[in-house]
Amino acid sequence: RTNVILDCDPGHDDAISIILANSSDKIYIEAITTVAGNVEVEKTTLNAQRICDLLQLKNIPIAMGAERPLVKQSEIAKEIHGDSGLDGPQFPDEPVKKVENIHAADLIIEKVLHSDKPITLVPTGPLTNIALAMIKEPKIVTNIKEIVLMGGGTFGNWTPAAEFNIYVDAEAAKVVFESGVPITMFGLDITHQAQATDSIIEDLATIKNPVAETVVELLNYFKHTYQEYFGFEGAPIHDACTIAYLIEPSIFEFKHVNVAIETKGEYAYGMTCVDLLCVTGQDPNVHFAHVIDQNKFWNLLKRSLSSY
Ligand code: BDR
Ligand code: CA
Repeated sequence: RTNVILDCDPGHDDAISIILANSSDKIYIEAITTVAGNVEVEKTTLNAQRICDLLQLKNIPIAMGAERPLVKQSEIAKEIHGDSGLDGPQFPDEPVKKVENIHAADLIIEKVLHSDKPITLVPTGPLTNIALAMIKEPKIVTNIKEIVLMGGGTFGNWTPAAEFNIYVDAEAAKVVFESGVPITMFGLDITHQAQATDSIIEDLATIKNPVAETVVELLNYFKHTYQEYFGFEGAPIHDACTIAYLIEPSIFEFKHVNVAIETKGEYAYGMTCVDLLCVTGQDPNVHFAHVIDQNKFWNLLKRSLSSY
C-alpha cells in the first residue's frame, strides 16, 4: 500500500484522481490538502469536501492551504473548470464533510514527520503548499518517499512554454524540483494522451452508480471546455495519471532526466526544461513519463468506477 497525501485544486481531473485513489486497495489516502489553482482556495476546498461527501469519506482529513503563490499574484482557470471549479454536476449546497483547523503545509509536515508509514506526496495543482512545507520544515525532505506530480511538459498550455500548474507558481516548483526528493512527473506530453473522447465517455456512461454518473457529468463539461478553448477532441484527465501510476505502474514508461524550472524567462516563465538528450550534464532529478498504455489506463478507470 502507498500512503499518499493528495495536494490538489479540484478541478475536474483532480476530482477524478481522488475518486480513482479511493477505489484502490493499493492506496491509503492520509489526507487531502487544497491549494489555489483552478479556482480560489476556498472553492477548491469546498470541491474537495463535495467529493468526500460523494464518496462518503468521513475519516480523511481535509486541510486548506495557500491562497496565493509564493511570489506572484494568483491566476485561475475558470475558462476550463467553470466558476465553481467543478462545473457540470449538481452538488448539495452545504457539504457535510468538515475542514480541519490546520494549514495544509502544517498537516503535510506533521504527516511526513510522524506517520508510521513513509508518505508519498501527490500534487496535482500548483506546488505552493509543498514548497511552503519544505521551507518551514526542511527535515521533511529526507522523509518524503516520493513526489508523484502532474505538471509541466515539453510544451505549454497556459503559455506556449508553460503548463498551468507550474506557471501559476514557478518559484514553488523550483523549490520542489531542486529539493532532492525523488520526483515522478506526468506532464502534458503524457496527459494529453489520456484524453476522454466521446466514445470513452459513452463507455463509462454504461456504469450505473452515483459516482460513475458524476464522473461522466464532469467529463462532459470538461470535454466541452477543452473543445472550445483548445480545439481538442476530448478532455485530458491529466491529474489521474498520477494515481493510475501508483496503482498500476506498468501503464507508463519513464526516462530518468534532469528537469529545471524557468523562473526568469521573458517568454518561458514556468517552463519545465526537460533535458531529454542529457545536454546539460546535470544529474537526473525526475522520472519523466513518456509512454502511456491507453487501453490499460481506461480499463483501470472503468474498473474503478464499476467498484462504487
Ligand atoms: C492541470 O491544470 C489544471 O487545470 C488541471 O487540473 C491539471 O492539474 C493541467 O495543466
Ligand atoms: Ca489540478
